[in-house]
Amino acid sequence: MELKLIQCEIVDGIATVTINRPDKMNALNAAVLGELACCFDALKSDASARGVIVTGAGEKAFVAGADIAELAQMNPLGAKDLAFYGQQVFARLETMGKPSIAMINGFALGGGCELALACTLRTASKTAKIGLPEVSLGIIPGYGGTQRLARIAGPGVAREWVLTGDMVTAEEAWRVGVVNRLFELAELKEGTTKLMKTILSRAPIALRLAMETIRRGTNMSQQEGEIIETDMFGLAAATADMKEGMAAFLQKRKPEFKNQ
Ligand code: COA
Repeated sequence: MELKLIQCEIVDGIATVTINRPDKMNALNAAVLGELACCFDALKSDASARGVIVTGAGEKAFVAGADIAELAQMNPLGAKDLAFYGQQVFARLETMGKPSIAMINGFALGGGCELALACTLRTASKTAKIGLPEVSLGIIPGYGGTQRLARIAGPGVAREWVLTGDMVTAEEAWRVGVVNRLFELAELKEGTTKLMKTILSRAPIALRLAMETIRRGTNMSQQEGEIIETDMFGLAAATADMKEGMAAFLQKRKPEFKNQ
């Protein structure tokens, strides 16, 4: 599929996916969602992409939401189908098995905030504004935001953000744990890349097992989650990278992981 509304560039194992509709604040219309789905599928099976950074073109917006001009045409069943589709697209990113970071360079509103919440981690420029303004349009978040925000920052924060519809500053989003790292806008790319490089220096299969354990575990009781943790711990112990990581520590050298 030819990508027209997003760009995808892979450098040193890091795929940067840039939503590129700056004249519309990078709003997610159906065509952008389709391109994202295609891109996430391709990245999943592309061994040259070990981590994914998602961002928006320009300095003003990460993504200012679903495209309101399209939403305005929805009937109830169409709205339900759209929400289901958006959830599926974001789930492809979340379950890709590779770490992803939303690099929030400006407004991350509505579907944009939900896209960021579907990433493994979030970085933001101090100038960014984040929020879920759907109730001011007569709808509710439909791309997983009600569920992911409650799991990341707790139901109290989710209720406050969703019910007020207010934008919060990046600093406030960082304070409540939605944003993991804050940077000056000029340092956002470098800081985000450095964070991703740190993650990618670790054992790749362990990263994948850890992400899956946390994701699945937050949707069940602690006891059930710990059963998954023991299984994943056992699986990790079957990898060559586990032997390499421990040997490297004992031999006081840097490990050379092989994703095996
Ligand atoms: N859907 C469709 N178009 C959008 C959009 C969205 N979510 N967000 C911005 N745009 C468009 C505007 O309509 C405008 O288009 P135009 O130049 O053809 O009129 C263009 O992007 C620039 O936006 P504008 O509102 O003029 O910029 P601003 O700097 O004054 O305000 C925002 C920026 C982000 C605060 C404002 O655009 C906004 O509130 N957007 C909607 C956010 C929202 O409710 N998202 C949730 C959707 S569910």
